Amino acid sequence: MMIFLFIIFLQFITSSHSKAIIKNLPGFDGDLPFTLQTGYIGMGEDDSMQVFYYLVESQRSPSDDPLLLYLTGGPGSSGLYPFLYQIGPLSFNYESSKGNNITLELNPYSWSKATNVIFVDLPVGVGFSYAKTWEASRSGDSILALQSYEFLRKWLVENPRFMNNPLYISGISYMGIVVPNVALEIYNGNERGNQPQLNIKGCLIVNPLTDKYVNFNARFEFAHRLALISDDIYESTKATCGGNYVYNDPGNMLCADNLKRVDECTSKITYGNILEPGCDARDMEPTCKTYTDTFIETWANNKDVQKALNVREGIIEKWETTNKSISYDLKKNDTIYYSYDVWSSIPSHKQLLSKKCQVLIICGDHDMVFPYVGTIKWIRTLNLPIESPWEPWFVRSQVAGYQVTYAQSGSSIKFATVKGGGHPLAAYNPEEALVMMDGWLASHAYLSDS
Ligand SMILES: *[C@@H]1O[C@H](CO)[C@@H](O)[C@H](O)[C@H]1NC(C)=O
Ligand SMILES: *[C@@H]1O[C@H](CO)[C@@H](O)[C@H](O)[C@H]1NC(C)=O
Ligand SMILES: *[C@@H]1O[C@H](CO)[C@@H](O)[C@H](O)[C@H]1NC(C)=O
Repeated sequence: MMIFLFIIFLQFITSSHSKAIIKNLPGFDGDLPFTLQTGYIGMGEDDSMQVFYYLVESQRSPSDDPLLLYLTGGPGSSGLYPFLYQIGPLSFNYESSKGNNITLELNPYSWSKATNVIFVDLPVGVGFSYAKTWEASRSGDSILALQSYEFLRKWLVENPRFMNNPLYISGISYMGIVVPNVALEIYNGNERGNQPQLNIKGCLIVNPLTDKYVNFNARFEFAHRLALISDDIYESTKATCGGNYVYNDPGNMLCADNLKRVDECTSKITYGNILEPGCDARDMEPTCKTYTDTFIETWANNKDVQKALNVREGIIEKWETTNKSISYDLKKNDTIYYSYDVWSSIPSHKQLLSKKCQVLIICGDHDMVFPYVGTIKWIRTLNLPIESPWEPWFVRSQVAGYQVTYAQSGSSIKFATVKGGGHPLAAYNPEEALVMMDGWLASHAYLSDS
């Protein structure tokens, strides 16, 4: 017992600079009924990158449940965003929040009901993470995969109690470009004998961008399937644009004219969920729930909140949901801070097939940012044997969506839709997202001792 306490004490003094257990947060009444740890991990030469994270421990069995690294989209969006709007343990109470007085409530469908989740502000420049040198402030798709791997190794050395938990790399949206590469870096690092060896089991990706050609072009097919454009417009556009509606030849006038008609039909649609009303990002109306940047920016810039989160004082001038010099738009060129250098992560998915890697891809079938149509398309190009054919899946006896699983030599790719789901999936369908995630992790728990 004494030795045990001594070790705990040693751990406490050696790491007390960089991490803390958060007991209370402004806006939430009483003690937090879950374990929240925040901290910085120093990375790069002389720890010139200081990477901020939020760990939410599983509320079921933290020592047995998997560990998920959750990478937010953008790139350049803070880990605090999914923490408060999607899969985290807290959300805003919209009715009682007024002005600067923001109140928080518990999210009954937090992923921490079933798993340990690390939300991370990566790359630096995002959220509360920062660089101490100019060199350290530069990142890109390929570098981000290496940085995520380095982060996990250092994080696990500081938090060795999670070293043996099954590890999954997860993320949403643009991180579909990065997540498979993080997993691949880990498998390859393990094979090279890197220490510590990470207990990687797979990837879980929501509404991913996987291929910048396939996924952006899929918006056109999706618009047709969901009756946003007529058969007529569909056929003449298809015939004149040669299957490419995004990176088309500007000299092709027939194609350009047709695309103008497509645009007329779709430009007023909310891409994040085509059933939602049009909505301004700074609008405070409850219909714009997932877009109320104002709440999160007011809360995260409050000095008491930063103090409670153990954020270092006076370093970040203004906390922003998304760093615009890092985030991606269609056809955007590299910025001084970020290089969009991975065009497609399909080659990485192919390599993962020989690593005994389990992959789950969940798509909201009403997401027009990266529609399910494109995801189905690239998965089919892998020509994998079907392990379990397309079928409905259920939440409380109702069809929640459809699923199909492909498998090959110990690896698998499961594709699942969520009926009516949008881009920030768990914001619209929190229960479905939790049920699918938890059921999938449990379905191959038997693999986790190998
Ligand atoms: C903030 O809002 C809560 C909930 O509506 C309320 O109980 C509290 O008195 C308010 N605090 C201030 C300082 O207005
Ligand atoms: C965006 O990221 C860059 C690179 O780290 C950083 O220098 C800049 O301050 C960040 N911008 C904001 C508004 O946080
Ligand atoms: C990206 O760079 C190219 C080449 O310099 C330029 O022609 C193009 O307009 C740029 N695109 C955007 C969106 O700025």
